[in-house]
Amino acid sequence: MMSSVPSMSGSPTALYGGQTGRRVTVRDIAAAKERGERWPMVTAYDAMTARVFDEAGIPVMLVGDSAAMVVYGYDSTLPVSVDDLIPLTAAVVRGSSRAMVVADLPFGSYQSSPQQALESAARFMKEAGAHAVKLEGGRRTLPQVETLVAAGVPVMGHLGLTPQSVNVFGGYRVQGRGQSGDELMADAKALEHAGVFAVVLECVPAELAERVTAALSVPTIGIGAGPSCDAQVLVWQDLMGLTQRPAKFVKKYFDLAGEMDHAVRAFADEVATGVFPAPEHSYR
Ligand code: KIV
Repeated sequence: MMSSVPSMSGSPTALYGGQTGRRVTVRDIAAAKERGERWPMVTAYDAMTARVFDEAGIPVMLVGDSAAMVVYGYDSTLPVSVDDLIPLTAAVVRGSSRAMVVADLPFGSYQSSPQQALESAARFMKEAGAHAVKLEGGRRTLPQVETLVAAGVPVMGHLGLTPQSVNVFGGYRVQGRGQSGDELMADAKALEHAGVFAVVLECVPAELAERVTAALSVPTIGIGAGPSCDAQVLVWQDLMGLTQRPAKFVKKYFDLAGEMDHAVRAFADEVATGVFPAPEHSYR
């Protein structure tokens, strides 16, 4: 049996648990950084899972382009489109009432121009009700970030291992070692200057993430970036134990694959033996 999920009862605040009965906003997130308060973000792709996370007090949910892999079964994030992600984002918004819902702009939906980025972001906000968007890249995406922020769209940046560039990196590898750490720091500062409200740092050395976190006034959200980030994010299928070969940075909090296997085998056995459905599951 996996150990039970740690209790959160010690630390609910306006951010961590949406105590105010309204959605978490970028102002709450900025205030959490000032207070030095750490917070969790998880991915979500459907209404029922979103409701569970929302009721557990998760303040920010990301409808990641990781949906390409965990929902649609592709082997990278590249194939999904805005049309693929809008229904998932709308479902997460409908399933939650307190979390900020961030929509990931997928590959090919923002790189060609600031105008394209704004059109994609506007679709996520108008058609799905997203509260913010995330896009990958540093200084090369500044025109997009600036246009979105000027149009009133809260933007989350994403640096380090940016999976939409997996073919440039030659695989899913740690980024920011050696000299490239200085480049990442410059990207992070440029994103902050352009107006992002938070920056995801994926698969970067813990010491670099610590320096970036200290240098920025907006929060860093780590995934494989060590313990010093202001927030941590995991793909929910990784943290719940559904993913078959999770990355080194994943901590498995539950054995969902094992529990589901157990349950569906019990159902199959009871159907075969006639135990299910019992009289209490039948109408007279
Ligand atoms: O798509 C995603 O799930 C992400 C997180 C891993 C940060 O970008």
